[in-house]
Amino acid sequence: MVTDHLGGDYLRQALESDVRTGLTSSPKWLPPKWFYDAAGSELFSRITRLAEYYPTRRELEILRRRAVDVAGLTRADTLVELGSGTSEKTVLLLDALANAGTLRAYTPVDVDEVTLEAAAERLAVRYPGLDVRPVRADFEQHLALLPRTGRRLVAFLGGTIGNLPPAAREVFLKELRATLRPGDTLLLGTDLVKDRERLVAAYDDPGGVTAAFNRNVLHVLNRELDAGFEPEAFEHVALWDEDNEWIEMRLRATRPMEVPLRALGLTVSFAEGEETRTEISAKFHREGVLDELSRAGFAVCRWYTDSSADFALTLTAAGSARPGVTG
Ligand code: SAH
Ligand code: AVI
Repeated sequence: MVTDHLGGDYLRQALESDVRTGLTSSPKWLPPKWFYDAAGSELFSRITRLAEYYPTRRELEILRRRAVDVAGLTRADTLVELGSGTSEKTVLLLDALANAGTLRAYTPVDVDEVTLEAAAERLAVRYPGLDVRPVRADFEQHLALLPRTGRRLVAFLGGTIGNLPPAAREVFLKELRATLRPGDTLLLGTDLVKDRERLVAAYDDPGGVTAAFNRNVLHVLNRELDAGFEPEAFEHVALWDEDNEWIEMRLRATRPMEVPLRALGLTVSFAEGEETRTEISAKFHREGVLDELSRAGFAVCRWYTDSSADFALTLTAAGSARPGVTG
């Protein structure tokens, strides 16, 4: 049922290459996509329910108010969702498109096969007659392979675009734009800059759910690369980088360690206090989002925010102009 672009040796080779590059760099880093095995996706779901983690609730609020507007403007028959995860918020868009009478197909796209399949099955039951076609793929590598039929609305929710560094974001948006045809649209979720305390609290909850999510990448490396990390020997760090306007998550070694990564034939040394970057989560201003989208060739048509202006959804068409944005 799932179209798999990560099968065979693909995922394994990508992981090996990322880990070898990231952990032999100085400072060390790991790309955030490796958080998301089944356990990581479950931890992310728990994060979305934390009192401190406002983005999911704010984006839901926007969708509750604006999904009908989005459906009316896009008249999409096919919803393609990048980094779809559990597709929980997606039902608001699917309901609106179904009520508008245009909806025919839904293509969730994610790296985590378990979560992807479960979401696809749940939605196929909820929407009989909907053509649900899950695709396991990397949205930084496989945009050109996604289905191109129908009048498509591409949804990229949750603020996941903020997990890409600026240069990768630019490439991603241009590549996405290149796959769209006249009539296709993009709905992009972005978290907005706000005061440091709220931002840091959202990434450093007292119950340690985000810390467990952060350390999960080490469990993934232990399992997939026969590595010898002791995840509990690494401290969760979340800090606000004022200059770059992003949250940075790191794992700090609490003592000196020599960690074997047997599948790579590599041993990595960590000094006491040494930090490995595991994620950035960029926060945006309205002008920045509109500029990045315009530069990639999107015509922005709606800017929607929640009642606290914490989070934004931007609706764009596949065009190059920037005619009067509303909202
Ligand atoms: N859209 C959901 C989930 C966000 S969590 C929401 O808004 O709540 C980010 C999701 O993106 C996870 O499900 C993760 O598995 C997926 N993901 C992360 N990097 C990815 C990549 N490079 N390609 C495809 N999916 C990716
Ligand atoms: C998926 N992504 C938008 C989340 C974020 O907020 O950057 C991932 C996350 N990391 C820690 N908490 C949530």
